[in-house]
Amino acid sequence: MTRKLFVTTALPYANANFHIGHIMEYTQADIWVRFQRMQGQEVHFVGADDAHGAPIMIAAEKAGKTPQQFVADIAAGRKQYLDGFHISFDNWHSTDGAENHELSKEIYRALRANELISVKTIEQFFDPQKSMFLPDRFIKGECPKCGAKDQYGDSCEVCGAVYTPTELKNPFSVLTGATPVMKSSEHYFFKLSDPRCVAFLEQWTQTPGRLQSEVLNKIKEWFTKDEHGQGGLGDWDISRDAPYFGIEIPDAPGKYFYVWLDAPIGYLASLKNYFGKLGRDFDAFMADETVEQIHFIGKDITYFHTLFWPAMLHFSGKHSTDGTYVPRKTPNHVYVHGFLTVNGGEKMSKSRGTGLDPLKYLSLGMNAEWLRYYLAAKLNSKVEDLDFNPEDFVARVNSDLVGKYINIASRAAGFLAKRFEGRLSADVGVEGQALLDGLRAHGAAIAELYETREFGKALREVMLLADRVNEYVDQNKPWELAKLEGKDQVLQDVCSVCIEAFRVLSVYLKPVLPALVAKVESFLKVAPLQFADAQHALGAHQIGAYEHLMQRVDPKLLDALFEPPAAPKVVPGGEDLAPEIKIDDFAKVDLRIAKILKAEAVEGSDKLLRLTLDVGEGKTRNVFSGIKSAYKPEDLEGKLTVMVANLAPRKMKFGLSEGMVLAASHADEKAHPGIFVLEPFLGAQPGMRVR
Ligand code: MSP
Ligand code: ZN
Repeated sequence: MTRKLFVTTALPYANANFHIGHIMEYTQADIWVRFQRMQGQEVHFVGADDAHGAPIMIAAEKAGKTPQQFVADIAAGRKQYLDGFHISFDNWHSTDGAENHELSKEIYRALRANELISVKTIEQFFDPQKSMFLPDRFIKGECPKCGAKDQYGDSCEVCGAVYTPTELKNPFSVLTGATPVMKSSEHYFFKLSDPRCVAFLEQWTQTPGRLQSEVLNKIKEWFTKDEHGQGGLGDWDISRDAPYFGIEIPDAPGKYFYVWLDAPIGYLASLKNYFGKLGRDFDAFMADETVEQIHFIGKDITYFHTLFWPAMLHFSGKHSTDGTYVPRKTPNHVYVHGFLTVNGGEKMSKSRGTGLDPLKYLSLGMNAEWLRYYLAAKLNSKVEDLDFNPEDFVARVNSDLVGKYINIASRAAGFLAKRFEGRLSADVGVEGQALLDGLRAHGAAIAELYETREFGKALREVMLLADRVNEYVDQNKPWELAKLEGKDQVLQDVCSVCIEAFRVLSVYLKPVLPALVAKVESFLKVAPLQFADAQHALGAHQIGAYEHLMQRVDPKLLDALFEPPAAPKVVPGGEDLAPEIKIDDFAKVDLRIAKILKAEAVEGSDKLLRLTLDVGEGKTRNVFSGIKSAYKPEDLEGKLTVMVANLAPRKMKFGLSEGMVLAASHADEKAHPGIFVLEPFLGAQPGMRVR
């Protein structure tokens, strides 16, 4: 039976561009989704921007934009990442969309009708200048434990203490610097501590196969009260006072849903928005018990997804006409992944990411599928962190992906094209058939590894199969067969085995390498490969011409990737760096080695020397240069230097200047006098180009 899958990734905050951690999460989910599509399942894979909350409201204000404009600008930048890394979302929406406003209110009303909302008055820090309650992260002060200055309201980065903002000494508002005052206000709570919620969540979380075992262990800690009766599931504060960028709470003017209430509802909102475009019935789909709802998330947001979210859904259902309660669908699985670190665990900021900028990766011309392959090779079903290591990256891509897999096609395709018009043998003989049967026999195991998110293991299996194929090639030596008389049939059979093996491996790799395999499909002249296609031979089929499929990684690219952006100031020269240029821009300047044949003072000028230069052209050039203060003419004669040889000639008071000699100087020549003419290393000849 066809599975119906509703799949999401976490909704990224709309206050920054994607970083490499996001790309990792999307890649993991995308591989799983593509695998399911290849199995013929019905998949709806949606994402959205998480638009609400105080930090976004404040960032928008700083940028001089409305929050709506601010998040729209961030949203406009999403496509280049998603397309660039082949992330195949069916829809991308926003938690500020109309669907989310409606659904959030609807869910809230249902929870309220179920008596799971309470109202309590609480005291909080308030910025009197800004007339705004301050989130913990917007209050700073001195650590109550160690006295360190400038610490956030929730924890100390110096001694690690965790506390509440009211414990800070000399607190101040990050927004205005004002001393915050305590102010009370009514807050709305979701009663997670209600026995119904606790009982439901115990059953939901412990349903076998729903959650990873590490996640379950963590949840058990959250459920447990300590010996003082502290801990356990507490009620959840779901309201924030105006001003706030969010969704207004029904019947509570000036109160907004805390961003984490409406954020996961954004999953439903994006699907609803998508179904609206398709003309499909969203409510019917969500009421269908066979639909599986699956969320891919990072470990830091487990609490929200495994406690608040299922409870919100379960208790916001409807009463049917016969009075029975029909809960909403809850997630079938929440698949939690660890964090990606870069270069040996370099601290990765959640908002700023690391030194590995995904757009820079793409703009350097690095192949997105190298990264997909590398990440897949490291991913498993556990909540483990993984590290991006440049040497490891180069090794896996070059030796495995290109060296083992791509190589198979390039070794066989040429002979088939040149000698057999691309025709494959229908019958490939016993040995070849055995090899292919062996590859096919692994299909089910590889599928199971994809299903269980053991991508690293799946790729290891595939590479072992690729090793077998390469051994077969080495033993059968098509390049030797090609030189022998009367071996045409054997050559055609061997190459056909290679191509068929390559096709089977391509099926197995397609969830990870969709763009590459699309090229393979066009080269093989086959319809888009489904997973089951690995099991049936192509038979007597005619393939197309081999096109180059994938380059090796040049390790220099990784140096460039991690090279920090140029510092804006160059200290010794005291001068700002000119804007970045491309190599083509530089190539426009034709620099040549020039020999100074003659140097002489210019009558009427106290700055210039007249230089007669040999640039290897069989004639000399006349160049005026402002270096008189630094050099005696006779000291220059006979020396080599560098000149701009394709500068348009300039008519000066003293004659025509046919180029420019290069010299270094400080931006502030008065404070740092000195002009230094460039001189090449020994061996350079007049006329040589400098590049
Ligand atoms: N907006 C919330 C999620 C709301 S879901 C209803 C949020 N946004 S986030 O932009 O901070 O993070 C989005 C996802 O990226 C989360 O799943 C988070 O765990 C993941 N990652 C953030 N940094 C990461 C790494 N360094 N590595 C892998 N994933 C990481 O949280
Ligand atoms: Zn401290």
